[in-house]
Amino acid sequence: MQNQIAQLREEIEREIAAVTNQQQLEEFRIKFLSRKGLIASLFDNLRNVPGVDKPIVGKQLNELRQRAQSVLDEKILQLKSKPKSAEHLDLTLPGRRKFRGTKHPLMQTLDEIKSIFVGMGFGIADGPEIEDDWHNFSALNFAPDHPARDMQDTFFVKGDILLRTHTSPVQIRIMENNKPPIRTIMPGRVYRNEAVSSRSLCNFYQVEGLAVDKGITFSELKGTLLSFARQFYGKDIKYRFRPSFFPFTEPSAEMDITCFICKGKGCRMCKQSGWLEILGCGMVDPNVFTSVGYDPEQYTGYAFGMGIERTAALLYGVDDIRLFYENDVRFLRQF
Ligand code: DAH
Repeated sequence: MQNQIAQLREEIEREIAAVTNQQQLEEFRIKFLSRKGLIASLFDNLRNVPGVDKPIVGKQLNELRQRAQSVLDEKILQLKSKPKSAEHLDLTLPGRRKFRGTKHPLMQTLDEIKSIFVGMGFGIADGPEIEDDWHNFSALNFAPDHPARDMQDTFFVKGDILLRTHTSPVQIRIMENNKPPIRTIMPGRVYRNEAVSSRSLCNFYQVEGLAVDKGITFSELKGTLLSFARQFYGKDIKYRFRPSFFPFTEPSAEMDITCFICKGKGCRMCKQSGWLEILGCGMVDPNVFTSVGYDPEQYTGYAFGMGIERTAALLYGVDDIRLFYENDVRFLRQF
């Protein structure tokens, strides 16, 4: 009997080592561990063992059964975690392509604008999106009854605290905290209480620009903005400055460039006019200098501002600026 046990033990070790799949595993279990298996039949023979030997043989049989069960359990785990062999891999299958994200088109546009102005010697600054009436309006020479101060146009937070309606208040903060010369652009988010449409949003981006020094003239403003427009929109654009009005600049202008889609002939993008309006600008109003404590007799300067959504829409030929905020990858993947 003890010989049989020893033999069976060897057999178990040998056979479990040879098991490589589920079917062989099941065969192993039936052969050794099932109710009619080899171990069970040895248990049946225990009857014939002389009484004195019974306890010791019984113990050996129990150990044998435990051993068989534990090698089986081990094998189950092993087979589960075993990687499929190379034969099961089809190396000709195309790989699974990972989709890599790209920078958002608005940020690409902003980066491009920043790098052009940095190239012309401008610094970059930012300011708070929650502003007070002073920085957003009063210091910028908005009259007390200016319609932009109306609840219809501005999101008020509390009292005279509001969400900035433009990036121009950053001009005030820069001048309050620095002495001329100043040459800085100020990108950031702005908020307006406006109905959302294909051409307007209630939350969008602007880039503000400010240059202040002794002896700055309108022609420097023109030269700088023209250089920007040529680098950004193309070397051979034509341009024009139209008189305009902003409370914080005098004189004020809007800059148009020839439509780079139809080259000035007239198309849907430029509403058949041949011209695209790209920014507002002007010479800093002396009242603005006075409100930040600069002497307007000593200093002059220019400022400009442009909307990023509009700029990106023009650049990429997008006819609905809401698309920039829908986060639809079919749209975003195109940039
Ligand atoms: N703040 C103006 C707006 O929101 C844009 C602007 C126009 C900014 C002329 C300027 C400027 O600095 O000189 O529409």
